[in-house]
Amino acid sequence: MPAIVIIGAQWGDEGKGKATDLLGSRIDYVVKFNGGNNAGHTVVIGNQKYALHLLPSGILSEGVIPVIANGVVIDIEVLFHELDALIARGVDVSRLRVSANAHIITHYHRTLDKVTERFLGKKQIGTTGRGIGPSYADKINRVGIRIQDLFDENILRQKVEAALDQKNHLLVKVYNRRAISADEIIENLLSYTERLRPMVTDTALELNRALDEGKTVLFEGGQATMLDVDHGTYPFVTSSNSTAGGASTGSGIGPGRIERVIGIVKAYTTRVGAGPFPTELFDESGEFLRAQGFEFGTTTGRPRRCGWYDAPIARYSARINGVTDYVMTKLDVLTGLEKIPVCVAYEVDGVRVDEVPVSQSDFHHAVPIYEEFPGWSEDITGVREFGDLPANAQAYVLAVEAMSGCRISAIGVGPGRDAIIARHDLLD
Ligand code: GDP
Ligand code: IMO
Ligand code: MG
Repeated sequence: MPAIVIIGAQWGDEGKGKATDLLGSRIDYVVKFNGGNNAGHTVVIGNQKYALHLLPSGILSEGVIPVIANGVVIDIEVLFHELDALIARGVDVSRLRVSANAHIITHYHRTLDKVTERFLGKKQIGTTGRGIGPSYADKINRVGIRIQDLFDENILRQKVEAALDQKNHLLVKVYNRRAISADEIIENLLSYTERLRPMVTDTALELNRALDEGKTVLFEGGQATMLDVDHGTYPFVTSSNSTAGGASTGSGIGPGRIERVIGIVKAYTTRVGAGPFPTELFDESGEFLRAQGFEFGTTTGRPRRCGWYDAPIARYSARINGVTDYVMTKLDVLTGLEKIPVCVAYEVDGVRVDEVPVSQSDFHHAVPIYEEFPGWSEDITGVREFGDLPANAQAYVLAVEAMSGCRISAIGVGPGRDAIIARHDLLD
């Protein structure tokens, strides 16, 4: 099996590490192809809990080669901090590869992220403040700093000075902040060079060779479809392509090599930050989901907005990504609810709309049309066979599957790595 892509189908935090765990020993490489340390992955292995931001969650699987590919934006300080924390816990991270073409998040990107948000006031995106947007903006503006620039001090100096010249005008004259010194930025970046050097390589070449040799490469998307800069709820999105296509541009492998696209979808919906969210709950049901599902951001600690499952969004994601299998996570969180509503379509200005509307204004005031399913009260966290789930839980999954545009091949029933029910082989 060649290249497999994992993507989030909603607004992130679907539990994308679950599918990585399920594939486990069948994976040779795990690749992060988009985003940066805005991601937050909590992975529970036995009684150990790991919180990762920049590194792909597959780094915790023994024997795999983790790769940070060209599509990622790297805060080098965060990278080493995360690596050191894993090393201290006995995780072998020595095989990590970092693309020479990946862009760097510097101090001025973090500063700009925060001041821009403050400037937007009520209209703010609610970013993670990690400098993601400004770093990608520099990449597209062709004033970004790449990992390979660290190995040529002369080039690095020219690039940082050029990027800062523009930004200092903005910081001082528009945002009323102090100018940032190019020397300090350069000194800081150069302090990482020697430790970084052995990790840096032509990751596109290595990944293509690995695929040529029949190795299995897993591309782990950060964020999710509805946060994708092209296909998400723009402007309330992140600044990268978190959909399946991003795996190709973000790593340098041809799209034809991707054989499976695994979508991760929660049994309900959550969102962090601002933007439209039709099924959002403001009552005790929302509180129930937040408390049961422990819906607080791994990166910023913010309480996540919670709502019911949105089937048009699942269909949209299935389409945009070419999802071959869905993994539904957190079914256990719904345990104890008497009735479980599912959004089957929307009403926009009095008219029924079955698919996600292309107009952002329509999506903003789309009112969900719900179908209700009976709940269950039995603890399902120990269930490992679909047929052993309570009848109502089975019926919920089957009904949702029929509306979601793709088969649901596995179901998460608890935070632990093994708390999963497999229905179909993800690679078959
Ligand atoms: P990611 O951003 O997609 O990697 O997901 P996060 O790590 O931000 O959020 C998912 C959270 O749900 C983590 O704390 C997981 O341990 C947890 N989780 C994953 N699958 C399940 C599940 O099936 N049931 C429950 N109760 N928790 C789960
Ligand atoms: P994982 O990988 C949930 C959201 C932020 C904000 C918007 C833009 O854990 O699913 P950014 O800092 O990227 O410019 O913020 O995107 N966001 C996420 N929400 N999960 C994530 O990652 C996210 N990464 C960014 O909250 O609304
Ligand atoms: Mg997360």
